[in-house]
Amino acid sequence: MENREINITESTSDTIEVSNFGITKDGQTINCYTLKNKNGMCVEIINLGGIITSLLAPDKNGNWEDVVLGYVNPEDYLENEYYYGAIVGRYVNRIAGGKFTIDGKDYFLDKNDKTNALHGGGEGFSHKIWDVEILQNTEFPTLRLSYFSKDGEQNFPGNLTTTVFYTLKDDNSLEISYEAQTDKSTFINLTQHSYFNLSGNFSEPIIDHKLQIHADKFLPINSSLVPTGERRPVHNTFFDFNKPKTIGEDIFNDDEQLLTASGYDHTWIIEGLGFRKAASVYHEKSGRLMEVWTTEPGLQFYSGNFLDGKFMNKSGGKNEKRTGFCLETQHFPNSPNQDDFPSTVLKPGEKYTSKTIYKFSANKNLWKL
Ligand code: BGC
Repeated sequence: MENREINITESTSDTIEVSNFGITKDGQTINCYTLKNKNGMCVEIINLGGIITSLLAPDKNGNWEDVVLGYVNPEDYLENEYYYGAIVGRYVNRIAGGKFTIDGKDYFLDKNDKTNALHGGGEGFSHKIWDVEILQNTEFPTLRLSYFSKDGEQNFPGNLTTTVFYTLKDDNSLEISYEAQTDKSTFINLTQHSYFNLSGNFSEPIIDHKLQIHADKFLPINSSLVPTGERRPVHNTFFDFNKPKTIGEDIFNDDEQLLTASGYDHTWIIEGLGFRKAASVYHEKSGRLMEVWTTEPGLQFYSGNFLDGKFMNKSGGKNEKRTGFCLETQHFPNSPNQDDFPSTVLKPGEKYTSKTIYKFSANKNLWKL
């Protein structure tokens, strides 16, 4: 892939700039779109997988630093085995046994995670080139990404048209809105898979970040990390984040659920309905605060358990276990095989919609315990 030092090649508006990022193995161009708001907040997004490759957030002294994990070598985004920063679909998370039935027909998916299908199969939306349009005359810089997934792609039924809007607002929030339509009944569950480290130093583990999740229940998992179907109250468990606590406070406990996932890799059932706050994360040293708002019923909190130091990070070290965490808004994993989970079916004539905001600010004394 070409070197991304190649500077901005074209300037299309005051707030979104386009530069060359590289090319795919089959010769498609990868562009990088830099969204900038009036405060100087910058987010870089590429048309490969809609990946956020960089996101600058302010600290308590007004310094802007990158807070999302990524690769140093642009070519590594092609493989992207950790799904850094990507839009994940057609079905994020696990589908047990890589199979489901819809309209009386059985479908067998790519079992790319032992016995399960993970993140839409080995060649999901995260690994596709999306069409990108810079929207004009919008209040804030907005990118429109679209991807057409053919009937049978990764063995999912239905021609599916997916659109994702990224908007960088002046309150330092990045809004991600999703829409999709199909011509045959199918299952859909989309998310944004950024790994965050609010310290701005990717060699520092995230266990000192304080996390709050607005959920009274979570979904316990089996040995292959698929929800068992139980909705377990968090009360009196290590999964209670209603009162903010550090990620590290309970993670090392000898708990069956924590041992199964080597940390947190579970779905929390977010309280309430509609667009509401699901979680907040505060990093005391930098003063950085991130809030997550969503319309989705679930939040997958993944504490970076399977990061294995294979790749260099942007700070010069390695992306090791727990040098980043994900807060993925989504419907519940394996819903196609769990009738009492909220439905993820999309039928012809219906419109799938979903909205999530990641909002960044800085505060000197928040949650000082
Ligand atoms: C899953 C993890 C998985 C990671 C990378 C997360 O969404 O919950 O189990 O290792 O994605 O694929």
